[in-house]
Amino acid sequence: MKTSTVSAPGKLMLLGEHAVVYGRPCIVTAIDQRMRVTVEQTDKNTLVIDAPDVHIFGYEKPIDTLGSGDIPRGAIFVEHAVQAFYAKFSCTGGVHVSVSSEFSSQVGFGSSSASTVCVVQALAQIHQKKILPKQMFTIAFQGVLNVQGGGSGFDIAAAIYGGTIYYVANAKIVEPLSFSTMPLIVGYTGIKADTSSLLREVAEKMKAQPEKVNRIYDAIAKLANDAKIKMIEGDWERVGKLMDFNQDYLRDLGVSSQKLETLIVAAKQAGAWGAKLSGAGGGDCMIALAPDDKKKAIESAIEAVGGQVIHIAPGAQGVRIEA
Ligand code: MEV
Repeated sequence: MKTSTVSAPGKLMLLGEHAVVYGRPCIVTAIDQRMRVTVEQTDKNTLVIDAPDVHIFGYEKPIDTLGSGDIPRGAIFVEHAVQAFYAKFSCTGGVHVSVSSEFSSQVGFGSSSASTVCVVQALAQIHQKKILPKQMFTIAFQGVLNVQGGGSGFDIAAAIYGGTIYYVANAKIVEPLSFSTMPLIVGYTGIKADTSSLLREVAEKMKAQPEKVNRIYDAIAKLANDAKIKMIEGDWERVGKLMDFNQDYLRDLGVSSQKLETLIVAAKQAGAWGAKLSGAGGGDCMIALAPDDKKKAIESAIEAVGGQVIHIAPGAQGVRIEA
């Protein structure tokens, strides 16, 4: 019976969220907090999942019923990842999947996508399938789409490729960016964003006011393109300004929140070059770029208004086999 352990990084969206779902580019960075998954073959024809961080203990499902019926939240992405892989390669046989995380599933760092990627890579190793990153993306994205119905796949790309990437949906473009250390600060609102409902709300807006929303998305695309150049040049002050503009557009789109705004204003008043929400909005995290000598003051300011500073390093390595 074979075993494989794989890890993959979480992510932070830097610029371009929502617009990326509608064909525009975004910039995303992989962070140094990882999901870790061990897959062991078993002699039973079932999938068993243990994911204590999300309260899943010994959840068991016959292989031929994967993806059907009521699936607990904490198990759904892993179950669909196994199903997508088994469907693609006509696999048989049982597996036991153990999932653990270096970060909370509440903060919006992409635990579902990272664990999906880990499962696909571990199964590929067990079944001796040599899959290229692009194929891994296709299988993992299928698994995620089967659960949440939409999304751009930027989080899956970050988990697979790592680093900081300029990304266009369905991995049409995955361009690694290299630059000097990014002076990034992350503040968590304490509120879990509901990505699926935010995506639905934005889709409604697109239906009702396509011209307005497309204008916003074109403007965001331009910011992402400018930011790519400024990041490579190491002009973080300008990237900060571009993040401010991006936040203005996200506010216009209606996806910001009072708590996000409070943290963003606190960071700016304490000397950040720029700040914005990161991800779907409504909650999760805000990010700021700032000169080193302002970092401490900004972190204190974020905490003083009820945010939680999370220390991460951007540009982490993509999916890797651990054992
Ligand atoms: C959510 O973290 C980011 C969105 O752009 C959705 C996606 O790209 O899949 C809102």
